[in-house]
Amino acid sequence: MNPRLRTPLLENLVLESPLMPASGTYGAALEGKEFGNLKGLGAIVTKTVTPKPRDGNPPPRLAETPCGMLNSIGLENPGLDRYLAEVLPRALELGPPVILNVGGESLEEFEWSVERVQESGVVALEINLSCPNVQGGALPFSTDPDACLAIASSLCTRSDLPLFFKLSPNTHLLTEVAQAAVAGGAKGLTLINTLLGMAIDWRGARPRIAKGVAGLSGPAIKPVAIRCIYQVRQVVQVPILGVGGIQNAEDICEFLAAGATAVQVGTQHFRDPLAAVHLARDLGELCYREDLCVEDLQNCLLRDRQSINGN
Ligand SMILES: Cc1cc2nc3c(=O)[nH]c(=O)nc-3n(C[C@H](O)[C@H](O)[C@H](O)COP(=O)(O)O)c2cc1C
Repeated sequence: MNPRLRTPLLENLVLESPLMPASGTYGAALEGKEFGNLKGLGAIVTKTVTPKPRDGNPPPRLAETPCGMLNSIGLENPGLDRYLAEVLPRALELGPPVILNVGGESLEEFEWSVERVQESGVVALEINLSCPNVQGGALPFSTDPDACLAIASSLCTRSDLPLFFKLSPNTHLLTEVAQAAVAGGAKGLTLINTLLGMAIDWRGARPRIAKGVAGLSGPAIKPVAIRCIYQVRQVVQVPILGVGGIQNAEDICEFLAAGATAVQVGTQHFRDPLAAVHLARDLGELCYREDLCVEDLQNCLLRDRQSINGN
């Protein structure tokens, strides 16, 4: 382990590095291994798994945009029972701790999933409250603080595993929603899921994504992610997993400075299937060059501003 990258995340969980793949951009969790060694990954985050199998949305469901990508995969997955039986045991053998991302259409579906996975061997759950490509993009649990408090309270009482709630940037109430998740018992937050976007093939008079509106990711959304983390960091103390447009080690430093505890890499995996592993190496080199460690970088913007203001 590179001591400069050591990242304490939870009371009993210290990660080898702050790097992890973002849900859904790394296959079912096993595919990365086919491209090389996973050494350096802090954790593996799985694709969202739902109680029942889902075929996802009709194609086309991916489109490239300037500095980003639109997707409307629609949470294609084999369903929780099959995932637990056929995929997760192999993911657990890869080495890094596994964070299982679960999703659902209703409170009852989330409750069922959380209870079902308690003995699965993962270190934490990431609760996907923010997929813009299901339920018509309504995002009830990550735009309404009361709904978020209700679901967080219910899921946290049913879980011995720590729960990270993955929130959406598509709301003006983000800080209130984040506080509601923490009041409900969240051990951490993941910020951010994709932004709502759209691209049109005007000659063909049709949207580039079959469903029309889709989720925008990649470097285009990085400033939005940084802003969300910075604002939420000022109102909550729990660990934040920062995600949105990370391409290089400098980007990771920016996320840590804004208030992220660790980071996830998503769209960059479409360029380099081992992006998160390679970025752990790059961050290690940067830290060595600059004589820094992850803990120096974490939260340094707020820390420095507070010391300037004499707080
Ligand atoms: C093709 C694709 C599929 C995704 N699937 C999921 C998913 O299943 N669950 C989830 O929580 N987020 C999903 N996301 C969102 C990412 O995990 C991440 O929050 C978002 O893409 C922003 O990070 P990035 O700009 O580094 O990609 C997906 C993103 C993409 C591009």
